[in-house]
Amino acid sequence: MSDKAKLVLGDKTVELPVFTGSEGEKAIDITKLRAETGFVTLDSGYMNTGACTSAVTFLDGELGILKYRGHSIEELAEKSSFLETSYLVFYGKLPTASELKVFEEKIASYNDVPEGIKTMIKAFPKDAHPMAVLSSNMVSLSAYYHDLCAQDLTPAQKDEVIVQLMGQLKVVAAYAYRHSQGLEFIKSDGSLDYCSDFIYMMTGNKNVSKEVAKALDVLLILHVDHEQNCSTSSVRMVGSSKANIFATISAGVDALWGPLHGGANQAVLEMLEEIKNSGKDYKTFLAEVKDKNSSSRLMGFGHRVYKNFDPRAKIIKVACDSVLKTLGVKDPLLDIAKGLEEVALRDEYFVSRKLYPNVDFYSGIIYRALGIPTNMFTVMFAMGRLPGWLAQWKEMVEQSGFKICRPRQIFTGDTKNTYIEIKSRS
Ligand code: ACO
Repeated sequence: MSDKAKLVLGDKTVELPVFTGSEGEKAIDITKLRAETGFVTLDSGYMNTGACTSAVTFLDGELGILKYRGHSIEELAEKSSFLETSYLVFYGKLPTASELKVFEEKIASYNDVPEGIKTMIKAFPKDAHPMAVLSSNMVSLSAYYHDLCAQDLTPAQKDEVIVQLMGQLKVVAAYAYRHSQGLEFIKSDGSLDYCSDFIYMMTGNKNVSKEVAKALDVLLILHVDHEQNCSTSSVRMVGSSKANIFATISAGVDALWGPLHGGANQAVLEMLEEIKNSGKDYKTFLAEVKDKNSSSRLMGFGHRVYKNFDPRAKIIKVACDSVLKTLGVKDPLLDIAKGLEEVALRDEYFVSRKLYPNVDFYSGIIYRALGIPTNMFTVMFAMGRLPGWLAQWKEMVEQSGFKICRPRQIFTGDTKNTYIEIKSRS
């Protein structure tokens, strides 16, 4: 195949370079399109737009492949830990034992937040959604770390802010929950691993079983990065204006919150509860989500990129059975989820649209079994996705040719209106 694409516009032919990624995926490089032709591209929802080049994560939606820095998600979920995988996405290689130890210790050293942040968490209404508390406190950290809000951070500052946010997001997440329950904050216990410490700070349970900590760790690994999804693109967008990293990460939290993205894990649980409580059979429920007059969807199903299966969902479904068995939990919602999946995967509507369970379909059932309340599910997603956001931000600001993200549009509004004095308007 030629390394040039030809675009015919009237009687003019323009040659555009073809860019090939390391996994063979091809893109038409339109960097000079507007300058040479006056045209821009139109791609609502960015269905076909590669917004950047990136070496962090590769995914093939047709084959159901997901790799972080060349390592398959299956292998990482089985052999790695959340913090080791985080190191991998930040620095592009697996750490040595001593590098990992230093990295873990540095993260653990950020096991507290400024008093003002604690006061702010306490000022929220008890029924505030923990994602609201998380988002506003992420950006509020900028008020306490002025050096780290500089336009251009040094390599050492970037390394520092990465471990700082890995430590402090966990604290804010746990405290958001404690506050919602009217409970006192619990200080981190440095002797515990990252996941056990989070559960301890959230629930007060210090004897977190190895199985529970491992199950949470695997869930976080599966969420670490997912190339240019909505929240990561928001992080890149906001970070591209050189907004400080705290504001940038807060933007990621906000985008994640939506039910079409990370908020889907909470929505799935609520949907399963609704099916259980209403006693609706699966076919009746599916008829509702297929109805084009209804705005409801089968939450936890469908994906912009995966059109065969979501490899994370496959791992989570197996983990779900094993975690519930290990913990001796019998959850009727798991049976409903499996029944719903089975019927949906045989239904022409879902088959023809290539809609499969995504990462959020079963994750909530595991969180529930681990004792994590429903309104914390998306916060758990944010905790897992933080390394991806930070790695993509770091990659972006370090890339040569760094530019502010600023898409174009095609204007379709009125072209000439005349100002009428207010008293004369009908
Ligand atoms: N239930 C019912 N119908 C669906 C669903 C669903 N979950 N998902 C897609 N469809 C239908 C659409 O109505 C559309 O039908 P049409 O062609 O007849 O109009 C078709 O499938 C294509 O859907 P789009 O919305 O165009 O697909 P898109 O790629 O834009 O959206 C998304 C992907 C947002 C994930 C969508 O599948 C969805 O809303 N799923 C439910 C929410 C969810 O689980 N989100 C989490 C995604 S994973 C993540 O972000 C972590």
